[in-house]
Amino acid sequence: MTTESITITRPDDWHLHLRDGDVLNSVAPFTAKQFQRAIVMPNLRPAVTTVKHAVDYLDRILAAVEGSDFEPLMTLYLTDNTSAAEIMAAHKSCFIKGVKLYPAGATTNSDEGVTDISKCNAALEEMQRAGLPLLVHGEVTDSTVDVFDREKVFIDRVLMPLMDRFPELKIVFEHITTADAVDFVLATGPRIGATVTVHHLMYNRNAMFEGGIRPHNYCLPVLKRESHRQALLQAIASGNEKFFLGTDSAPHAKNLKESSCGCAGIFSAHAAIELYATVFELTGAIDKLEAFASFYGPDFYGLPRNSGTITLEKSAQTIPESYPMADQTVVPLMAGQTIPWRIRSENV
Ligand code: NCD
Ligand code: ZN
Repeated sequence: MTTESITITRPDDWHLHLRDGDVLNSVAPFTAKQFQRAIVMPNLRPAVTTVKHAVDYLDRILAAVEGSDFEPLMTLYLTDNTSAAEIMAAHKSCFIKGVKLYPAGATTNSDEGVTDISKCNAALEEMQRAGLPLLVHGEVTDSTVDVFDREKVFIDRVLMPLMDRFPELKIVFEHITTADAVDFVLATGPRIGATVTVHHLMYNRNAMFEGGIRPHNYCLPVLKRESHRQALLQAIASGNEKFFLGTDSAPHAKNLKESSCGCAGIFSAHAAIELYATVFELTGAIDKLEAFASFYGPDFYGLPRNSGTITLEKSAQTIPESYPMADQTVVPLMAGQTIPWRIRSENV
């Protein structure tokens, strides 16, 4: 009997949190075993705000994945004080591929983020000139705005004015969660792309409240209602090149999630490509998986597509209840449940 399988160009993850220290050493190998490259988020403490920080962090990531050919693509953390000179240096470095905008207070480790985007004109001008993309966490932080509306309001209040002021700036709208974001991305020109996580494709907001509060399904932007999830599924099933893979895998120790004030973030790096394959298959769009996972990201960033391949086979695997992470544990997406796809072992 032959197992059903698909072989695709080796994928990349265009939005990933690797953390640092012993946690980095625990989680990075999961990504390196399936992805060739990943855009690594800079929201460490302290944040990766300079080229010097980024090169040191790059070295630590490379040490954590020693023996693999995984290539980290670094990012800088935009602050009110990021200078044009720092952006120029980032561009010249060749290993920094984007600059991340966290509105101050929007999410995990965003306190050093931007308080007012108008303070970033010099940096944004230089990015526009250099063709260095701005990667946006697209949520307003105004506490009077309902948490489920913060992405939509961000489009109107921040993103559209920003696009008018910087008509050539390349922007990745990260981890989109709403029909509003899908429509916005579709209505704009080729300089706007968007990453889509697997958890926002799999779940609507009910997943946070199934029989009780489910901290492991809490992330930011928060899961939305079913009609928004359907819009995301339609976007990826359409095969439109503006939507590409970004897991936003964001590990937090089990005890920090299962707490009276639990951290936002879902860990999905352990089985990311298998979970995307599951979603694409259920949506009847498995033929669109390769372009989403392996072509549209590098095309947007102006990087070559990978030359290697991975093979996924239809062979069930049960996800562990937890994985060791530094001296703690992390609860992975789909913990204790069975998923239909796995990476063929010779790829691993
Ligand atoms: C991310 C994290 O934990 O760093 N959390 C999350 O819920 N996605 C930060 C982020 O990308 O918002
Ligand atoms: Zn993220």
